[in-house]
Amino acid sequence: MSTGTDIVFFLAFVSAFLSFGLNAAGPDAGPASLMLGCGSDNEAKDADGRTWLPDSKFVSGSNSNQVQAQYQDPALTSEVPYMKARVFTSNTTYKLPAKSKQRYFLRLHFYPSNYGSYNAEQAFFSVVANGVTLLKNFSASITCTATTQAYLIREYALAPLTQDGLEITFAVNTGFAFVNGIELVPIPDDLFEKAAFVGGKADDSIDSKSLNLQTVYRLNVGGSFIGPAKDSGSLGRAWYDDNAYIFGANVGVENVADNNTRIEYKDIPDYSAPVDVYTTTRSMGPDKDININSNLTWVFNQVDVKYMYIVRLHFCDTVFTKPNQVVFTVYINNKTAEPEADVIGWSGGVNKAVYKDYATLLDEKSGGDLWLALHPNPDTMPQYYDSLLNGVEIFKMETSKSLAGPNPKPSEMLEKAEEEQKRNFEESKKKDTGSNNKAHVIGGAAGGAAAAGVVAALCIAVYQRKKRVQGGESHSTSWLPIYGNSHTSAKSSKSNGSRHLSSAAQGRCRRFSFAEMKQATKNFDEANVIGVGGFGKVYKGVIDNGATKVAIKKSNPQSEQGVHEFQTEIEMLSELRHKHLVSLIGFCEEDNEMCLVYDYMSRGTLREHIYKGNKTYLSWKQRLEICIGAAKGLHYLHTGARWTIIHRDVKTTNILLDENWEAKVSDFGLSKTGPDLNKGHVSTVVKGSFGYLDPEYFKRQQLTEKSDVYSFGVVLFEVLCARPALNPNLPKEQVSLADWALHCQRKGILEDIIDPHLKGKVNMESIKKFADTAEKCLSECGVDRPSLNDILWNLEFALQLQEGIEPVATRSDSRTRSDSDDATLRNQEMMAIHYSNLSLGSESDLGEVQPSSSSNNNEAAPDSDSAIFSQIVNPTGR
Ligand SMILES: *[C@@H]1O[C@H](CO)[C@@H](O)[C@H](O)[C@H]1NC(C)=O
Repeated sequence: MSTGTDIVFFLAFVSAFLSFGLNAAGPDAGPASLMLGCGSDNEAKDADGRTWLPDSKFVSGSNSNQVQAQYQDPALTSEVPYMKARVFTSNTTYKLPAKSKQRYFLRLHFYPSNYGSYNAEQAFFSVVANGVTLLKNFSASITCTATTQAYLIREYALAPLTQDGLEITFAVNTGFAFVNGIELVPIPDDLFEKAAFVGGKADDSIDSKSLNLQTVYRLNVGGSFIGPAKDSGSLGRAWYDDNAYIFGANVGVENVADNNTRIEYKDIPDYSAPVDVYTTTRSMGPDKDININSNLTWVFNQVDVKYMYIVRLHFCDTVFTKPNQVVFTVYINNKTAEPEADVIGWSGGVNKAVYKDYATLLDEKSGGDLWLALHPNPDTMPQYYDSLLNGVEIFKMETSKSLAGPNPKPSEMLEKAEEEQKRNFEESKKKDTGSNNKAHVIGGAAGGAAAAGVVAALCIAVYQRKKRVQGGESHSTSWLPIYGNSHTSAKSSKSNGSRHLSSAAQGRCRRFSFAEMKQATKNFDEANVIGVGGFGKVYKGVIDNGATKVAIKKSNPQSEQGVHEFQTEIEMLSELRHKHLVSLIGFCEEDNEMCLVYDYMSRGTLREHIYKGNKTYLSWKQRLEICIGAAKGLHYLHTGARWTIIHRDVKTTNILLDENWEAKVSDFGLSKTGPDLNKGHVSTVVKGSFGYLDPEYFKRQQLTEKSDVYSFGVVLFEVLCARPALNPNLPKEQVSLADWALHCQRKGILEDIIDPHLKGKVNMESIKKFADTAEKCLSECGVDRPSLNDILWNLEFALQLQEGIEPVATRSDSRTRSDSDDATLRNQEMMAIHYSNLSLGSESDLGEVQPSSSSNNNEAAPDSDSAIFSQIVNPTGR
């Protein structure tokens, strides 16, 4: 195409741009940004309100098709640009308007899905921009699977262009090529300059001013996700939170500067990073001894080897004011990048932002992991032993005009899970077609979830978690989380898809009109969203003229699975009433709209208080009490209701906390019940959340209440170690908390991985009791796992051990007493407390262990826990 036509295109674009008024930074602000929704005929707004233009006039030739995805993954944060794509059956070039000498961010968006006859699993392609290879034999599908993402964005910082116009060629290697969105954003010249070479001589540096770069990571350390619409300098960058990358037992603390803090950009331009990056900090925490003995470490994996990287560290101290108050060493890949980092010394004062660039070569030995570690440096005798970081960006530098790397390998665990699931699925399909071909209908109304859907279902939990980490939305802490696998289901034969609830259920709870629901949530105002899942969104709301705070779960009318889970949840919850189960106030069912109305749990999920963005740390006692509450809720499900109920999705996001820190089990959408459970097990297609799944259930698809016990064991370790059940970013052997904790427990090194905030503040006997209980819950075979009754008893015991500390310690201070006397007394006292506080419930609160108000129980205190244990197990009445 001639330059003349290019200019026409350019003008056409400019006028389109002006008339749409998008991203306009004023007439003199230099070249404008361009956002293309590929395969779309119309301009459309994404979830952030940014407008994407149709791409047809920038792409020539007849080898491309406009296609529509058949299935919307719940982890997609926005329909635009992901639900549409342009598919290329042979090499095709986009010609975009761009200015010579200008640097640009080029972003490519990919959502590997089924697009009619085009299945993204079959697409392998290369992308070249103005002669620079960005991607080579690239599979978006493999990349997303390996990184447990639903979609991916590749960002490149192109070197200053040598001529006007940018040509992006998609070349097919196998199958076809596709793209969902293209963004071109001009960036300031000085965004990339010199970086100090790590491991080189003192002033060795590498100048990246005229290099093509690829953004590999960009994190708002110690803070939360900052979306592209909120970036500084209108550069459209996304800043993810750093929780998934933090490594080791000391994860530090997240600090947020108070609201009226003003961040000063003294020596750096304000487009360096948004204010939020600098107001939120991760530091090591107040404990000097912990700090001096540990590193604050991040591990970035899936980084291509044999490339150079720029590691940009953003700093801003919002607490200290003087140099040499905090001095630390920065290590990158085990090499000293900065021996004495002194943030105040660099920035010139409190609340002043600064960043530093380091260049490092990632060799093959690294295995594709890039390590960043901070350690307090005592050499200069700083006032505090601490280290801190506010943000990190990692950019890959081009090597001989290429930035492409190989497709990643999925972790072994994911691969194994996938194989196993495929096999199970095939088997169950065979069985079903023999008897009843309706038994397993895979795919909801949204359709299109292929045979691998069961795998997808298992992974959704991972997606969802990653979404909060990587693609997260503003409401990143979900109140009522996700139905683990909402979009794929095996319908039980019982459910015929009817939208009518049993009359019994209707009679038991309150019925709301849709108008009332609208009023309660201010017409389902997005600002009230407190959680999101495949079933739909969860809103905060008020009913009864503002008298009662509620959480309203609104179904997505397109999700047939939603209907089923809606019914399950309502039938279950309307029948169950228990202090430790979240209570259902009512429901709304009108036309296609369905809502469930619950008590509002003001403190959110247990997870957010143990590691996910928590501001304060729960004490060991609080943690024990919460676990006890949750165990009581589950115990009631297993034994207290008319039938045994198996929750099937026990995890830390399904344990909610009210304003008094009382734990309540929630989310019964996957629960299983029925008289057939009494025969020992039900056989079913595996559901639940990855990381919590009972291996026995997984292998044999036989569900018993011991599957919940397994998941609860994972919860207990999560509470103890303050880390997620599954963290795909950790080294292989640590990915699964269940495996890692068992490994450490068996080697006797569990102490090394417990939450450092607990160290020194807890009774180690209590920890031991707790860990032993958790270990038993994770027994390979269900029969070896304790019942919830046993668990409850052990947790109560751990609580008494912990409680035992304070009173005895004070008394032994005031009186003189020999150690052994003291120990005996402590033991006896503890048992007495046990007895006075515990009594077995009557028929009405079947099996529930409740605190009793009377404390004049005179039974002699037995001297070993097994004695108490057997009394509870074989109650002889009061
Ligand atoms: C901290 O990291 C450095 C560099 O990776 C390492 O040499 C050192 O042993 C680590 N220190 C601790 C306490 O883990």
